[in-house]
Parts: sequence; structure tokens; C-alpha cells
Amino acid sequence: MNGYFITGTDTGVGKSVVTACLTTLFKSRGENVGVMKPIETGVDPECSSAANSDAKFLMEVSGVQDADVCTYRLKTPASPYQAAQIEGKEIDPEKILEKFRVLQAKHSMMLVEGIGGLQVPITRQYNVADLALQMNLPLIIVSRIQIGTLNHTLLTINAARQHGLKVKGVILNPSHGGELDAIEEEQAPLIEEFSDTPVLGNCPFIQDVSSEGIKNSLGLIQRNFQEAQI
Ligand SMILES: Nc1ncnc2c1ncn2[C@@H]1O[C@H](COP(=O)(O)OP(=O)(O)O)[C@@H](O)[C@H]1O
Ligand SMILES: [Mg+2]
Repeated sequence: MNGYFITGTDTGVGKSVVTACLTTLFKSRGENVGVMKPIETGVDPECSSAANSDAKFLMEVSGVQDADVCTYRLKTPASPYQAAQIEGKEIDPEKILEKFRVLQAKHSMMLVEGIGGLQVPITRQYNVADLALQMNLPLIIVSRIQIGTLNHTLLTINAARQHGLKVKGVILNPSHGGELDAIEEEQAPLIEEFSDTPVLGNCPFIQDVSSEGIKNSLGLIQRNFQEAQI
């Protein structure tokens, strides 16, 4: 298993930022990192950029020029299932898996950013958890550091386990650049206590979340994840 599937407790929690940070971290360790964002919605394929396309952003951070980092791009900002329905298209998960296997064979470390959370539908019968299972990658769950995180994180861990997914651990993502208060500091030990799942670390708060800004934050990223068994 040479890689991780990065999911989140919600959309907008920081999956792309964390995936970009991990890409930079693994590259600094000499890994040949490949990235994938299997489906993107809310992106105009004609005029996508690193600012509005996760796939382009991750390609910029990784420096890879692979084709097919993103198998399906849909304009409608909705779940893949809903967006495909609206646009009269159908998503074929097998096509995503084929592209994944090609990329996995090329790279020593694959980082796949999920779409929203685990139970986001891709087709009528197939969701993001099914995709992670078929890719056979352990999960990294990105959670916000804020009130409500404990519930969202435990729900996601339970859903993952029920689905037979292996959970490597949780990465907590701060929503501000200041010091964490006592309640925020306690999120990590509480998640570990109630789920028996390790918190791998906190992602640093990055002022400039462009690909250059992420690369320039390597020192911070290394410091935050130096203890993490990833
Ligand atoms: N660690 C971070 N430091 C600074 N800003 C962040 C961080 N994580 C997320 N953000 C902000 O939140 C936005 C959403 O994060 P993103 O990684 O795109 O979420 P997701 O991929 O889960 O939808 C980012 O564009 C950025 O503005
Ligand atoms: Mg994203």
C-alpha cells in the first residue's frame, strides 16, 4: 500500500491543503509522489486554474505532469452523482480505478484527495468510501479544529470502519493562525480516547495557500509532522 486516501469530515475542511502539505513532506523525504483528485465538481474544464481546481493545485505542488490526475471534471458545484445527473453524464468508477493503477505503478507514494466526505455519492450504487476501498489505500481523515469536530470525526471514523476501510489517522486543521486555546488543544486527545485512532498531527496554518506558499512552508510542515508515523 504505497499511499493514502485523504478524506474529510466535510467539504472545505482542508483536504486539498493537507494533501498539498503531505505532498511537500513526502517529496522532501525523497519519495516520488503522485497525486490524484479523481472527480472535481464546480470546475469549468475550459478555464480551470490552481485557484479553482484541486487537481491543478496538487499537480503544481507535486511538480508532476501526469495525464489523468482528474478523471472526471463537472461544471455543476454539487456531489458527483448530482452533478452528473444534472449534466446528463454518467461516472464510471472502473475508469477512475484504471487511471489510478497506472499512476500508482509510476510513483512510490500516491496521495489521492477524496471528494467531500466518505458517504458522498458518485453513482446510485457507489460512493467515495467504495472508491477508497477499491483503491486499497489507508485513510487519512482531515478534521477542523473547532466545536463540533469530535462528533464529525467520530462519525467519519465509524463510517470508515463499518465499510472495512483502514484508518491511518486523523490530521487536525486549524481555522486560524493563532495559538490554540485549551479546548482546541483537547480535541486531539479526546478523538484518540473515543475512537482508538491516532491523531497524526496538526496541519500548520498557512498564510499563503498557493502552491508556492505551501512549498515555502516545508519547515513548518516538517516540524508539525516530525512525530507522525506516516
Ligand atoms: N492549514 C490551512 N491554513 C490556512 N488556510 C487553510 C488551511 N486549510 C484550509 N484553509 C483554507 O480553507 C480553504 C478550504 O480548504 P481546502 O483544502 O480547499 O478544503 P477541501 O479540499 O476539504 O474542500 C482553503 O482554500 C484555505 O483558504
Ligand atoms: Mg479540495
